[in-house]
Amino acid sequence: MLITFEGIDGCGKSTQIELLKSFLSKNKIEYSVFREPGGTEISERIRSLLLHETDDMNPVTELLLFSAARSQLISEKVMPILKQNQIVILDRFFDSTTAYQGHGRGSADLKSIHTLNRLAAHAIKPDITFYLKIDPEKAEQRISGNLKDRLESAGNDFFKKVSAGYDQLAREENRFHVLDAEQSPEVIHREIVSIIGDFQQSQEPDAASKTWKEV
Ligand code: TYD
Repeated sequence: MLITFEGIDGCGKSTQIELLKSFLSKNKIEYSVFREPGGTEISERIRSLLLHETDDMNPVTELLLFSAARSQLISEKVMPILKQNQIVILDRFFDSTTAYQGHGRGSADLKSIHTLNRLAAHAIKPDITFYLKIDPEKAEQRISGNLKDRLESAGNDFFKKVSAGYDQLAREENRFHVLDAEQSPEVIHREIVSIIGDFQQSQEPDAASKTWKEV
């Protein structure tokens, strides 16, 4: 099962991934977690180019580098793990490219981005996407104390566009689950566990997915 987490910077994605990891470990359910861009040696090298270079990067170059990092992660790590029927959690996936490069930057038209996303993901799609939705100004306040990377420094207008991009995806894609990121982390976590439990039961109606109902 492929579970992805999405949302603008400062939405609380990392906290939720940590809570889900603890839940899975406690229940002895095997899983792997990767972050995008990153997760393999090649992809981590691309990540440092993307997030830490100060020189101007052409928007199409940026789009292709995110996609290149993704292709390597999916082929090298994610596909083999999914074949073993394990859970893979991705901290961002191609919806980030649609929202950030497509809607935020306007690096290319959405149709081209969609084609590129499919290519870079080797045609894999998430089963469940959790979108932690937060007002861009509130998110900005949350991260204002941290040292910002190149993309986080892009400004509020940019994040409004990214946010609108995610909202559009949420309307179009059934796999999207919109979570109010301003609720407490525990409440959001319980929603996440329940949604995964429901999904598992819809896949294997006979299996008693007791584990997921325990919380
Ligand atoms: P990261 O430090 O991992 O941020 P976060 O914890 O918010 O995920 O940096 C990833 C940055 O890269 C983030 O600002 C979103 C951006 N990004 C894109 O612009 N396009 C993409 O396709 C991906 C995967 C990330």
